Amino acid sequence: MKPVNVGLLGLGTVGQGVAQILDRNAVEIARRAGRGIRVTRASVRNQGKNLAASLDISTTSDPAELVNDPSIDIICEMMGGEQPALELILKAIENGKHVITANKALIAIHGNVIFEAARKRGVIVAFEPAVAGGIPIIKAIREGLAANRIEWLAGIINGTGNFILSEMASKGRKFSDVLTEAQALGYAEADPEFDVEGIDAAHKLTILASIAFGIPLQFDAVFTEGISKISRKDVAYANELGYVIKHLGVAKSRDDGIELRVHPTLIPSQRLIANVNGVMNAVLVQSDAVGPTMYYGPGAGSEPTGSAVVADIVDVVRAMSADPNQRVPHLAFQFKELSDKPVLPSHEFESAYYLRLEALDQPGVMADVMAIFGELEISIEAILQKEALLDANGVAEQSVPVILLTRRVKEGLIQTAIERISALKSVIDEVVMLRVENLG
Ligand code: NDP
Ligand code: HSE
Repeated sequence: MKPVNVGLLGLGTVGQGVAQILDRNAVEIARRAGRGIRVTRASVRNQGKNLAASLDISTTSDPAELVNDPSIDIICEMMGGEQPALELILKAIENGKHVITANKALIAIHGNVIFEAARKRGVIVAFEPAVAGGIPIIKAIREGLAANRIEWLAGIINGTGNFILSEMASKGRKFSDVLTEAQALGYAEADPEFDVEGIDAAHKLTILASIAFGIPLQFDAVFTEGISKISRKDVAYANELGYVIKHLGVAKSRDDGIELRVHPTLIPSQRLIANVNGVMNAVLVQSDAVGPTMYYGPGAGSEPTGSAVVADIVDVVRAMSADPNQRVPHLAFQFKELSDKPVLPSHEFESAYYLRLEALDQPGVMADVMAIFGELEISIEAILQKEALLDANGVAEQSVPVILLTRRVKEGLIQTAIERISALKSVIDEVVMLRVENLG
């Protein structure tokens, strides 16, 4: 059978990984796919020209040439950003080409439109590389867990952020230094704010929630908080209490709606997921039949992400000749079966909470704070009162840090407690609030 021709839009970190894997493992991949797979063309601007020349891939600076080239069967979009990627993908679909994309922003924001266009044209749009780099998490949830009602999932789904938090916690390194290293290693997004402010994780959580619960993609509904405000102090106090701080994406299906949230989270340090460090990602899925399952692997990087792209290419090649109506649905559930269950506002979230306040070192302060919790009926799990820190002259500061862990409660109630505590004259500075998930 004649080989399948692949065109690569973008030959940067991911694109180069794909080209190298397809070249190095060509024989093994053809044995799996049932046909040869070759990259014939790539659109390049600066990166990847030498690699293209060494692999005999013809290049152009105009990506539109590839999506309009009748000799190309599959387009892999690895450029990033919303435009021109969206326009190119829609054109490729219109031209009857199957598409693979690593672009989670594009799928999270425009996926509903893209999948509708693909369904009407009878082509596949695959996106395994868009979530958790090299971990086959889309396939695991969409196909491997198809028997289950998924209750919740929680994941470390940004490699750059986890790399930063791990290096800060284990080596005391500065946030900005670790971010620069992550950029040099090709882990970070073109705009690294996407990584540190949780936007990239929110894109991925949007996709995971959709295939887990059968809801449309709704990126705008995800509550998102980044890691840039995590202080070394909170990392240390959390450790003292037996927790590790991780940047988690959490999607929970409740009777009254769905929680979709990305934020720094305290996790008990003995949990497997609390020990996922560096660029590694992990997704823990709680389902009714199988129970908890966890998926672990590199969340970013050239060949790890390339591995997911190539797996999607193989899947597409195998499915090319199948009846389009018998293929795995893009978002796991049949398109007419998507649910309109609402995504809940943040004051409805339920979690336990870590609060750190700076209180004047004087009698009666703790009583005032505890009275507020008592009135709001918020139970306290643990309290840690630290010694006053010493200033630059070695003199004890007037305030002492007080750390409280609450039991699970609605977030609206915690916000009320924080407002009241902040209004106390004896409490100085902003109250720090972090969510705590037991993940048991
Ligand atoms: P890179 O910046 O390394 O590569 C992007 C490639 O696309 C480069 O060849 C770049 O050209 C080209 N390109 C970008 N914009 C345009 C444009 N407007 N017109 C023409 N060419 C363009 O990015 P990555 O490989 O890191 O990421 C690509 C995609 O994969 C992104 O969506 C990213 O989120 C996703 N992804 C990345 C992972 C990673 O580990 N890096 C992991 C999983 C997903 P130029 O030569 O000028 O740079
Ligand atoms: N910037 C992303 C990350 C790339 O660090 O996880 C992988 O999606």
